[in-house]
Amino acid sequence: LPRFYHENVIDHYNNPRNVGSFDKNDPSVGTGLVGAPACGDVMKLQIKIDEESGKIVDACFKTFGCGSAIASSSVATEWVKGKSMDEVLTIKNTEIAKHLSLPPVKLHCSMLAEDAIKAAVKDAEAKRAQMNGRSKAADVIRRWLCPDPHRIVMTILAV
Ligand code: FES
Repeated sequence: LPRFYHENVIDHYNNPRNVGSFDKNDPSVGTGLVGAPACGDVMKLQIKIDEESGKIVDACFKTFGCGSAIASSSVATEWVKGKSMDEVLTIKNTEIAKHLSLPPVKLHCSMLAEDAIKAAVKDAEAKRAQMNGRSKAADVIRRWLCPDPHRIVMTILAV
């Protein structure tokens, strides 16, 4: 990377944190896949949610793009860990850009990271809603198939 880049960019570019992939079909994983139309770069950011606490316990990324995009996604995966989905939605691209001291022409690279976080949260929330819907449906079916014996007795007694 050229010398005018801040040391944080160079650090994250040379030692990117959390590079990798989770299984996108894992119900606890949210995947955000976004692209920058200006340059054609693509970023995939994934978050893993703990079912009980609803917090992000792990994150990873794969970015096909410039050094600033790689550094931005590396920072993003570090910042989202341990936070709730609501909390990570407040992470702004301007904070990432400030942390990396990105020049104005590279702001869209940090924007890609913000978009990727948002897309990953959206995917995770959609999966959770689907799971909740399924378990509610399963509950109704279970109640139909195995009615509560206590309720049956009460109904018989009431007749
Ligand atoms: Fe495209 Fe950085 S130049 S994301």
